[in-house]
Amino acid sequence: MNEHGGDLLVAGGEVVSTTGVDRADVLIRGGRVTAVRAAVDAPADVIRLDATGKLVFPGLIDPQVHLREPGLTHKEDLASGTLAAVAGGVTSIMEMPNTKPPTIDPERLAEKLGLARGRAWCDHAFFLGATPDNAEQLGEWEQAAGCAGVKIFMGSSTGSLLVAEDDQIERVLRSGSRRVAVHSEDEPRLKERYAGVEVGSHPRIHPDVRDVEAALKATKRLLALVERTRRPVHVLHVSTAEEIALIRERDLGELVTAEVTPNHLFMTAPDCYEEHGSLAQMNPPVRTARHRDALREALADGTLTCIGSDHAPHTLEEKARPYPQSPSGIPGVQTILPLLLTAVRDGWLSLADVVRVTSDGPRRAYSIGGKGALDAGLDGDLVIVDPSVTEPLQLDWLRSRAAYSPYVGRELAGWPVTTVLRGNVVYDAHTTRGTPDGRPLRFA
Ligand code: DOR
Repeated sequence: MNEHGGDLLVAGGEVVSTTGVDRADVLIRGGRVTAVRAAVDAPADVIRLDATGKLVFPGLIDPQVHLREPGLTHKEDLASGTLAAVAGGVTSIMEMPNTKPPTIDPERLAEKLGLARGRAWCDHAFFLGATPDNAEQLGEWEQAAGCAGVKIFMGSSTGSLLVAEDDQIERVLRSGSRRVAVHSEDEPRLKERYAGVEVGSHPRIHPDVRDVEAALKATKRLLALVERTRRPVHVLHVSTAEEIALIRERDLGELVTAEVTPNHLFMTAPDCYEEHGSLAQMNPPVRTARHRDALREALADGTLTCIGSDHAPHTLEEKARPYPQSPSGIPGVQTILPLLLTAVRDGWLSLADVVRVTSDGPRRAYSIGGKGALDAGLDGDLVIVDPSVTEPLQLDWLRSRAAYSPYVGRELAGWPVTTVLRGNVVYDAHTTRGTPDGRPLRFA
């Protein structure tokens, strides 16, 4: 439970929205925003948080996290992963289906929702994994409460989920109507490229193994299928300049939305592999500065509408296996905000852009109800940020069970201090408050 029943006044902060920054108070009653303006009069019994000198953002929505429960809880679980989320100002997550067993039917989805009840620190929804066998049922199943939609792995990554052939993908796209999230790497190309890799190679070859062509080929195939089926898709973790050019050129409007991970924006090959080895190994890989620059530009100009962390924890022991047996994935749900605020300091993103890609973008892409902005009537989810603190990321700040980050030691400018979920403080000054009360997301 919580201390103050979803009634809260956040006073004197600079409230950030997609249109800019305004000095305003935010009043939340019964968990919902009731007023956002200067000098709000709040009843005396409403708890008041002083946000003078601070920025107030809508709580972040992270549309791509892997929280590993059930089956892989030595890496992470719903409690530890959502704790990392709220510690980073993320108040809603959408979780991926490559758990053990994978989330491929309504029973598995219900199991995850049950596991999250009373343990998840933030609101949440779970993706159903597409398989060649469940394609025809997905249209009905994706309507279940707490379902984030359907996820397709076109190329193999962590776990066994795979829908590699065009006719199989088309069957999935023709079953249902919600936006389908897609991991877009070409399976035949990956197979061919992995065949020549010697165990014990340096992970610096990862972007050559899972190369530009593997990503581009799959995204080309996907967009052709979207043109044919008219089913909306969301291209996850876009990693190449070539895919950006393709998405712009095909210009499929609302049918195709796309996201990028902080890793593809804040690291470059080959230095990230020289410095961090397999700790920088993820799928699709972090690539050269040419790709990073194209992705930054696409994020700033709106071609990419969302940031998804692709939080993908593994243990350090697992990561230490010789490449390519070292698993791909980087934890990151907690570090989105300080990284993006550093981009604001460095001048390639605005504060309004940060809201656009961390809450408004995910809300629109997936039609999430009641979230995505600090507007009257929406959930009172927010994060108070201290923009004046510039300090190196410390390992002991991280709350994920995966106790590492490639950003440890990096100077980041702007840090979350207090996270509020539906009017209740859930994280403040490095400590949880109350008990976990995350609830399933609703979709329009
Ligand atoms: O690097 C990755 N790790 N990419 C994925 O697609 C899956 C993820 C994981 O679950 O570890």
